[in-house]
Amino acid sequence: MNNVRNFVIIAHIDHGKSTLADRFLELTKTVEKRKMREQYLDQMDLERERGITIKMQPVQMIYQDYILNLIDTPGHVDFTYEVSRSLAAVEGAILLVDATQGVQAQTLANYKLAKDQNLTIIPVINKIDLMNARIPETEDQITALCGVSKEKILKISAKTGEGVEKALEELVKKVPAPKQNLDKPLRALIFDSIYDNHKGIIVYIRVVDGEIKTGDSVYLMASRNIFEAAEVGVFKPNFIKTEKLKSGDIGYIATGLKEPEKLRVGDTITQFKSQNQSTKQKVLCSAEHTNVCSGSKSQIPNIEPLEGYREPKPMVFASVYPQSADDFELLKKSIQKLKLNDAALFYQPEFFQVLGRGFSLGFLGMLHLEIVKERLSREYNLETVLTTPSVSFKLLLKNGKTEEIFRAMDLPLPEKIAHILEPWASLEILTPPAYFGDLMKLADSYRLVFAANEYLGDLMIIKFEVPLMEIISDFYDKLKSASSGYASMNYEFLEYRPGDLVKLEFLLAGEKFEAFSRIIPRPKMERDGRLIAKKLKELLPRENFQVAIQAVVEGRVICRETIPALKKDVTGYLYGGDRTRKMKLWKKQQRGKKKLKEIGRVEVPPKVYLEILKL
Ligand code: GTP
Repeated sequence: MNNVRNFVIIAHIDHGKSTLADRFLELTKTVEKRKMREQYLDQMDLERERGITIKMQPVQMIYQDYILNLIDTPGHVDFTYEVSRSLAAVEGAILLVDATQGVQAQTLANYKLAKDQNLTIIPVINKIDLMNARIPETEDQITALCGVSKEKILKISAKTGEGVEKALEELVKKVPAPKQNLDKPLRALIFDSIYDNHKGIIVYIRVVDGEIKTGDSVYLMASRNIFEAAEVGVFKPNFIKTEKLKSGDIGYIATGLKEPEKLRVGDTITQFKSQNQSTKQKVLCSAEHTNVCSGSKSQIPNIEPLEGYREPKPMVFASVYPQSADDFELLKKSIQKLKLNDAALFYQPEFFQVLGRGFSLGFLGMLHLEIVKERLSREYNLETVLTTPSVSFKLLLKNGKTEEIFRAMDLPLPEKIAHILEPWASLEILTPPAYFGDLMKLADSYRLVFAANEYLGDLMIIKFEVPLMEIISDFYDKLKSASSGYASMNYEFLEYRPGDLVKLEFLLAGEKFEAFSRIIPRPKMERDGRLIAKKLKELLPRENFQVAIQAVVEGRVICRETIPALKKDVTGYLYGGDRTRKMKLWKKQQRGKKKLKEIGRVEVPPKVYLEILKL
């Protein structure tokens, strides 16, 4: 009998996934009672402090005669990539819905992802112990969403444990066992990875075909590296060594590899039959050396790699620089290691004269950005400076080429640009219909374009199209306040469209400072121009001459601030009332200032760049 069941819990944020996972851990005695704590699977301090799951976390439990492999997933839209990768490793999903909130935007989005993967979906209503639980309404919404009859929807309280065992029973009954292909050559999908100081890179895998044992030599099909499995094992949820992992299992391999760039989430692992004992040492070769190590292709089975993951599309970009330029190498290593454990993070090196070497980073949203900054500081002890987040723009150039940029300073000269395109997203808002009017008012002030609406039980789904730039800053907070907290949203990249965008530039004493430039929608140019010019006036140290700060769009000055010159008392040493001598000195000072102003260059301290880039 195949007694393995692989499943995930998916839900909107805060609907109780981690709490339900806690109950499962208790019920199956996976974690000793004295070691149990709330949200056990949220292993990062950051997750526990914020009460949110950021990382997927697999755990193996034994229930009756079954081996259950659960992957707890995050609920926030910024971490959807974690969810989609978990879904590819399992056969079933518990779709958990909070009875006080009902179906929300990520319930919908995650349900669709699970359905696309053909998973068996078990709908469960949670928090039935609460006074304000709206069970019948939530049942209607789930029925409308999944087409299941009400009686089939389980009702539980992950807090009190009521109904939790029934959920496990349903799970082993309904979720199919994974297909076992033991006779085929090894194929395993890497769905996550982590860097361990002792064991090197540890990959999290779902074995699809064949089996793998400690000591086996294996080959990474995309990155074309070979390594020896220093250890294989399962998640309890800490790493527990086992003899082998076979088709249908979820587990880990300690690779011993130390170079993060050698490994990619989504890659397929297969066996590497080494005829030569010398290649049985720890690994060890990269693509360039494959021929030396592998000798002949016959050592790698002739199989198709598994379907990997679609590369996630970063939505928000920012530059990161170490606080101290000496820390660049540390920053580089840290980002590479972080990337192993955060497959959605995009990075590439960049340079900026004032701040030195840094990286352009791409994130799935603002929370993702915040978490990356926090993790760099906590896990790698690295203080960094992140510039103002921006979307990326596509440039159609007059010479027929296209370019993608996110820093305004990288814009070519205007005469070379045919169009600047900005990213648009499709946005779905789920709300009780009573807030429709208020939400449409909000839509007006954020360039939202209404597309359609439909009903889901007693809820309304309003669909919009919107420039991504509009929703990455404070839109979510505004949505919450316009709907007394009831509306939730989900968005997805749609396409690039031409925008009415301008480059806002700044001159200091007549000289252009490119680093302060930004690309913004035309209607916002005066507001942003004024804001930045005021901030510059506040931050820049005074010079011996008067400094004009000018915000410029398309060659036209749209606002101006002036920093007065430092006053030096040139007549201080004169006492008495000889006014003509004083006048002479003042005139001389004025002439000097005029000359300084003509040749004067404003010195902008790096601190000021950073402050402005953060605005
Ligand atoms: P994310 O991982 O951040 O998406 O959250 P989550 O879905 O894992 O939710 P979590 O388990 O952290 O629960 C969110 C809050 O709801 C916590 O304060 C839990 O204690 C509470 N909670 C979860 N289940 C129940 C329940 O059945 N009843 C009650 N009363 N509270 C619950």
